[in-house]
Amino acid sequence: MARITLPRLSKFQLAVHIGALLPLFLLIFDWTRDNLTFNPIQALELRTGKYALVLLILSLACTPINTVFGFRQVLKVRRPLGLYAFFYASIHFLIFIGLDYQFDLGLLQEAIFEKRYAFVGFAAGLILLALAFTSTRGWMKRLGRTWMKLHKFVYLAGILVIIHYVWLVKSDIRTPLLYGALVLLLLALRIPSLRHKASQIKHLRFIRRMQGSFTNLWQKFQASLFTNSMQSGD
Ligand code: HEM
Repeated sequence: MARITLPRLSKFQLAVHIGALLPLFLLIFDWTRDNLTFNPIQALELRTGKYALVLLILSLACTPINTVFGFRQVLKVRRPLGLYAFFYASIHFLIFIGLDYQFDLGLLQEAIFEKRYAFVGFAAGLILLALAFTSTRGWMKRLGRTWMKLHKFVYLAGILVIIHYVWLVKSDIRTPLLYGALVLLLLALRIPSLRHKASQIKHLRFIRRMQGSFTNLWQKFQASLFTNSMQSGD
């Protein structure tokens, strides 16, 4: 009988998976308790959209975090974070077509092609779909160098989502602009000269000291977990 082997995850990877799934559980919890404001469909749309955007930005931030702080573990969570962003974007889209528009194809077509925010959101969703579909090792091998080029489109998806967000907000656009500034900063850090400068930061004495304290804290935390589980007989 074929055995399913689960990948071995580090504690950091596990924490990222739990952190990425937590909003889903909170959403289901609030839904079952009727705790989704007086307009639950809109609340579901807004929350899933926000989760997708935050996870997308976190996945974009992985490479710069490694460049600046030399924290290599973060590279292992880049792909899962991107897939979680796609996952929440899919729920977001399903809520839009199913709950908001009751799968009415005529109305949906009208909304997507006539509401500019829906159109750019849809374009971003299609990019995320293509990236999620080709994110496996098999596709990486099959596409070779094209894979790298294709996956740079994640930045375009990020920019489209920001435009989507700016166009939906009717009055105060400070929050979407703040997210936009983050996406632009992460994009700027891909420019070789800036990336080189950023990579020097990890050699600063202050950053090294911070890395040392963080590693110490993390080791102490892990040791305390181990002692607690030994004491409780787990
Ligand atoms: C697939 C096509 C998409 C459609 C039709 C769509 C539609 C919507 C709708 C109807 C809203 C709520 C508007 C309101 O009631 O105020 C919304 C909000 C939002 N969407 Fe989308 N969306 C799409 C794709 C995406 C994608 C791919 C992302 C992110 C990866 C995203 C991120 C957001 C964000 C951040 C918000 C605002 C959340 C907030 O204000 O807190 N959307 N979208």
